[in-house]
Amino acid sequence: MKVALASDHGGIQIREEIRKLLEELHIEYEDFGCECADSVDYPDYALPVAEKVANGEFDRGILICGTGIGMSISANKVKGIRCALVHDIFSARMTRLHNNSNILAMGERVIGAGLAREIAQTWLQTDFEGGRHQTRIGKIAEYEEK
Ligand code: RB5
Repeated sequence: MKVALASDHGGIQIREEIRKLLEELHIEYEDFGCECADSVDYPDYALPVAEKVANGEFDRGILICGTGIGMSISANKVKGIRCALVHDIFSARMTRLHNNSNILAMGERVIGAGLAREIAQTWLQTDFEGGRHQTRIGKIAEYEEK
């Protein structure tokens, strides 16, 4: 699995924690910034990561901002992206089992680095269930083709 990772200035600490997690799990990843603590615009980070996941260059993406909301709204504008904004373990598991989410968004002003790490690990290690859930996400894909 190859993971594309990015944050804005509001998600730097969790991004660092996720980098450590990916290294511990021996998961290949690339960090697309941001590079500094100055204020940046979250779409400039969410959209390139979402495009890299949508075009198959990366299997999954993880995006962090202050709330996770700006990142998730932006990523979900890209065709083929199912970005889930998650702040609890149950949703992390369910969004993989049922939605086959390919991007995880989290908010550093909402949760701490420890919980973010557990959420990311659960999300990375849970497989899609398929079946009736494939039919449902297929309907989203059909809509995207309109
Ligand atoms: C930046 O101040 C903040 O707006 C951003 O990190 C994010 O929370 C937006 O949704």
